[in-house]
Amino acid sequence: MASQERILDSSAHSLGECARLLQNDELVAVPTETVYGLAGNALSGKAVRKIFSVKGRPLIDPLITHFKSARAAFSLVHGSGAAEALAAEFWPGPLTLVLEKKPDIPDLVTAGLSSAAVRVPSQPLMLALLEILDFPLAAPSANPFGYVSPTRPEHVAQTLGPKIGAILDGGPCLHGIESTVLDLRDPKAPRILRPGPICAEAIEAILGRKVDMPLDSPPEGAQVSPGQLTKHYSPRTKIKIVANGQLRFALQEGEAIIANKKPTIAGQDHLYWLSEDGKLEEVARNFFDLLQKLDRMHYTCLTIEAAPEVGIGIAYNDRLRRAASC
Ligand code: TXA
Ligand code: MG
Repeated sequence: MASQERILDSSAHSLGECARLLQNDELVAVPTETVYGLAGNALSGKAVRKIFSVKGRPLIDPLITHFKSARAAFSLVHGSGAAEALAAEFWPGPLTLVLEKKPDIPDLVTAGLSSAAVRVPSQPLMLALLEILDFPLAAPSANPFGYVSPTRPEHVAQTLGPKIGAILDGGPCLHGIESTVLDLRDPKAPRILRPGPICAEAIEAILGRKVDMPLDSPPEGAQVSPGQLTKHYSPRTKIKIVANGQLRFALQEGEAIIANKKPTIAGQDHLYWLSEDGKLEEVARNFFDLLQKLDRMHYTCLTIEAAPEVGIGIAYNDRLRRAASC
């Protein structure tokens, strides 16, 4: 567990300390509106190598680069009318665009790909930090590779804490689920590589054309985005998925049940819910947090209710399926 001193508050002094660490190629866990990120100077090979080694992430998995503004982002990737329109609508915010990169983004960040994933986060502390830096931040989610993403500073402290310079405490994350990743290399054929808080319909409304959705199981060797790995975001505890509205509340030995909304028989032990009234934004926001908590409670099985396949429910179901696969 990281010592308390390493968790820094939102003061100007803390931001200065984070900037100093990052300027010296150290890593800082940063809050974003989606999940906490493990950030390092995207333009420094030394810092980027540290990100891969601290996270235990294979070098073939490219990272997202975070910028303070769309203008800063488009100075390092090749934009298009479509990219500019989406940036104007959704940045700062939880949309990551995959675009052809310019040479200044190191090949290590993009795992040798000619494209780069870029976004402008909206979390105010993260934006304030980016403002005082003169380089963008490469940041994957701040969890050990393959484990559940962190949505609170203590999740980072419990896993990567001792290995990093500091954790910037921005409180719990607003969305609780990673950004939508959109492949926009060909503006005429936009494709969602990872569903997230910005749904396909919202993107289609701006682009005025259909957006392709990800394949559930990409054919062997055809993986375009490692976020599409079937096993991802997995806790140690086994997960069983039950269709939306189909939960039966007969608990087995060692089992916990997670419902979307507060069940009428609430009060029973080992019964949890993600939202009082089943609001999908709350279901998504609280999912990783509850998963991390229950994963430390020695249950043998978590029975979890899927969400309706609409809005952010699509991204929640995607993370739930991946967490359940072993
Ligand atoms: O919300 C988020 O996106 C968080 C916060 C910290 O910003 N970050 C995050 O990073 O989830 P990570 O590394 O856990 O996921 C990045 C995703 C992966 O699925 C990766 O394969 C994809 O973005 N990606 C990155 N660069 C890519 C590229 N050039 N082409 C296709 N996919 C790419
Ligand atoms: Mg991740």
